[in-house]
Amino acid sequence: MLIIHTITELRAWRQQNKRVALVPTMGNLHEGHLSLVRAAKAHADAVVVSIFVNRIQFGIGEDFDQYPRTLEQDIEKLIAEGADVVFVPAENELYPNGIQRYFVEPPAIQNELCGRSRPGHFRGVATVVTKLFNIVQPDVACFGKKDYQQLAVIKGMVQDLNMNIEIIPVEIERAKTGLALSSRNGYLTDKERVQAAQLSARLQAIAKAIAEGNKDFAALENSAVTYLQQHGWQVDYIEVRQAQTLTKAQITDNDLVIVAAAVLGTTRLIDNIEVHLSHSK
Ligand code: PAF
Repeated sequence: MLIIHTITELRAWRQQNKRVALVPTMGNLHEGHLSLVRAAKAHADAVVVSIFVNRIQFGIGEDFDQYPRTLEQDIEKLIAEGADVVFVPAENELYPNGIQRYFVEPPAIQNELCGRSRPGHFRGVATVVTKLFNIVQPDVACFGKKDYQQLAVIKGMVQDLNMNIEIIPVEIERAKTGLALSSRNGYLTDKERVQAAQLSARLQAIAKAIAEGNKDFAALENSAVTYLQQHGWQVDYIEVRQAQTLTKAQITDNDLVIVAAAVLGTTRLIDNIEVHLSHSK
């Protein structure tokens, strides 16, 4: 596996390769990321994994400095998984002198759900992903469904800006307890890690109720919020949304996603579950 630090080297490598898949990450790789690498391998001749903790997608007071940086272990995992290139640009390589003057501005969805408490986050994501796309020029790029709103923003961006890149959504990897894998799980204490499974359990309960015909989305959302609050969580949102557009779910919608963000202790966790109803319901 090649370890590439500069845009020039990456571009030279790209010219010698046919169908390339990109897996953009911020490192601290876990089984969720590795499943993205496996999906990427199935769709291309060569796989590039980028590792870059992108300052401009973190808000003031968020965990940019604290974000786990584990490059050596990440490289070992990527070698074992058979990635071809790991692209690890220094901050100055992507943002020379700390400057980015042009940004990719997502539409109103960037201010909803996670965007309400993370202003500017999706603009930072869309901008760095565009830069990575322009550098790597991949044919396909893999993104996890765990970051459902991020995936929707990227899919919309690729479509609206006519980027010739196929976006492959990859299913969430979960611990045995149901907890969605995330680099931020490392912030949880042992006790919190056990309790954290309550989030996915509440989403499962809503999904089951909807699949059984309950369309009172507001009541389902409220009861999950109340349950989690009673168990010590600070809930940011739990909402049933239309899966493709992330607009508010209507009772006539069949493709739904239940999205959630909540804080346990000092750790903000996100999760979601899709519900696809048969069209006769
Ligand atoms: O999902 C992530 O790890 C990041 O948001 C991404 C897509 C690598 C952009 O920095």
